[in-house]
Amino acid sequence: MHESFFRYQNFFWLKVAIALSAVSIALYAWHTPSVVANGGTWLGYTLGTVAAVLIVWLAWFGARKRDYSSSSSKISGWLSAHVYLGLALIVVATLHTGFQFGWNVHTLAYGLMIVVIVSGMYGIYLYAMLPGRLASNRQGMTREQMLDEIRDLDETALGLADQIDSRVHEVILRSVEKPGVMLSFWQQLTAGKLGKDPLDSAERFLRGYQNDLVDATLFLDAQPQSGAQATMMYISNVMAGMEAEKVDKLRALMETVGRKKSLLKRTRRDVQLKALLQLWLFFHVPVSMALLAALLIHIISVFLYW
Ligand code: HEM
Ligand code: HEM
Repeated sequence: MHESFFRYQNFFWLKVAIALSAVSIALYAWHTPSVVANGGTWLGYTLGTVAAVLIVWLAWFGARKRDYSSSSSKISGWLSAHVYLGLALIVVATLHTGFQFGWNVHTLAYGLMIVVIVSGMYGIYLYAMLPGRLASNRQGMTREQMLDEIRDLDETALGLADQIDSRVHEVILRSVEKPGVMLSFWQQLTAGKLGKDPLDSAERFLRGYQNDLVDATLFLDAQPQSGAQATMMYISNVMAGMEAEKVDKLRALMETVGRKKSLLKRTRRDVQLKALLQLWLFFHVPVSMALLAALLIHIISVFLYW
């Protein structure tokens, strides 16, 4: 989705960020305040104001992004600026502090800023990794196609189960009724790995049922061949034929259930990868809000105690 934001307009925002950092470093090196370097000198105020404006602007990003949702190149531009200027903040805000840290609300604002920036880097990592992972997991299918095929497999499985016997039908019905994909957010994140999967129980049941059937078929085949029991043999042969047919149906059913299981696993993985992206934003955005609050307190408090 955002493949091009890294190199947007020939790394324009990267250049701006480097220039901003370089100017800040040069001013900091050149500046020789009469007191120890800190946020209260003219350079301290300047860098602090630049940093605060940047933070407010970056936090505004979500709303701006929605305004521009129609044009993907503008979104790339915003994201590019967001990422590079966000990283430049490390230089600008750190020089603003003059490396004076302590256990106070000022350092809290600084710490929150670092947490937001580091979480932003993790977000970029997700954005870079996820499209590839999503694509290889989908194997050329869309989420809808996967869900459609799961529905078809369910119908085939129910049809086959119906032809075997009512117990098998009941087990398959149970595995079909349980919601397979639309799970709670937590289940989405864990790819439905928590709790018992009705498909696993269905598979186990079918395997046991198959063993019983095969045993019964072998037993019927192995009936005594003596002439006195000709009628008995005839009946047992017919029954063996019927059982063998069931074994075939069961094999087809097990293949269907196996295919559904692997498709369901891939669909859940798809949901999981998407949920991971959402989870990351649930962190990045609220910590940004906390940062804004701490920053406001920092600014108000330095003016109050000035
Ligand atoms: C309009 C913006 C800002 C103004 C006016 C401002 C003002 C100041 C002032 C006057 C000081 C010196 C306080 C003192 O020596 O007691 C200071 C220190 C500091 N500022 Fe800012 N600041 C601003 C933005 C920021 C931002 C964006 C951050 C980081 C997120 C930040 C983090 C700090 C820290 C960590 C200190 C050092 C506190 C200490 O000495 O323990 N400031 N700021
Ligand atoms: C103090 C600095 C930062 C603040 C206040 C901030 C705040 C925000 C906010 C409010 C959003 C909007 C989320 C939404 O509603 O969709 C956002 C999105 C994002 N931020 Fe940050 N951010 C900061 C720094 C960074 C940095 C340094 C990076 C990367 C290294 C980054 C990467 C991202 C990404 C990838 C998105 C998602 C864009 C999208 O959904 O298209 N952020 N940020």
